[in-house]
Amino acid sequence: MTIIDGKEVSAALKKEIAAEVEKIKAAGGKIPYLVAILVGDDGASQTYVGHKEKMCAEVGFRSTVLRLPAETTEEQLLKEVDRLNNDDDVDGFIVQLPLPKHIDEQKIIEAIDPRKDVDGFHPENAGRMVTGLPAFLPATPDGILALLRYYKIETAGKHCVVIGRSNIVGRPMANLLSQKGWDCTVTMCHSRTKDLAKVVASGDIVIAALGKAEFVTADMVKPGAVVIDVGITRVPSDKTKSGWKLLGDVKYDEVAPKCSYITPVPGGVGPMTIISLMQNTLKAGKGEIYPKK
Ligand code: GUN
Repeated sequence: MTIIDGKEVSAALKKEIAAEVEKIKAAGGKIPYLVAILVGDDGASQTYVGHKEKMCAEVGFRSTVLRLPAETTEEQLLKEVDRLNNDDDVDGFIVQLPLPKHIDEQKIIEAIDPRKDVDGFHPENAGRMVTGLPAFLPATPDGILALLRYYKIETAGKHCVVIGRSNIVGRPMANLLSQKGWDCTVTMCHSRTKDLAKVVASGDIVIAALGKAEFVTADMVKPGAVVIDVGITRVPSDKTKSGWKLLGDVKYDEVAPKCSYITPVPGGVGPMTIISLMQNTLKAGKGEIYPKK
């Protein structure tokens, strides 16, 4: 059994991005510039945005965090989005989710110029992805593909079972793995799937992205399967300084011995998502997905 080390892979890819930025600098090119909008004071969102800001500095990007109060209206946020859409200096930007309840998230996502949509959440990028066109890919599925690539895990002809059908993880993951080059036979499971345990047990590759702590147990996993755990549920713990710990969607201790490969939580998929955002920002800066105007 091999533990997939997301920290090692993300460190290696981070070095590659930093080296590219060095090259751009040396050639007198424009340094990629990422802006993050953070509305309100959700603790987890502040932490995530803080990590993104730090990573930008570490790979040599420019970045700005726009911190807006929780009372910001939808109209005011749309104005900020419009301003960033039209600021040629900004290569890409994200609006950190979740947004306060009085703001329609979908409306905000659709207001972002797809050319700057480095989260890959805009329907245009989702549509481009599905049709196999160059697109900004959402960070989590893109990060999982990078792990599979790094560990040279065979996917062609394998049965991949994706548990969860969210727009930002399960659905794009299922689509990408079914595409040419990955060539999986994919089953996407969800809350209404019949005999879910049986379906999961038929998977050569299992991607758990339903958001239920320790949902996948050993009896649901085929011996030798590759198990990718996207879950990050915070639960109280008296063993950590913070008072909480993270649990994945997989009951790691009993599932790991049955696997050929497994991602731990934390330290598996998590560290990869921020790398995908950096890669998308680099692509946006270079005009790789959408040529610069
Ligand atoms: N909230 C949790 N994950 C993400 C993400 O990848 N992008 C944005 N914008 N918000 C998030």
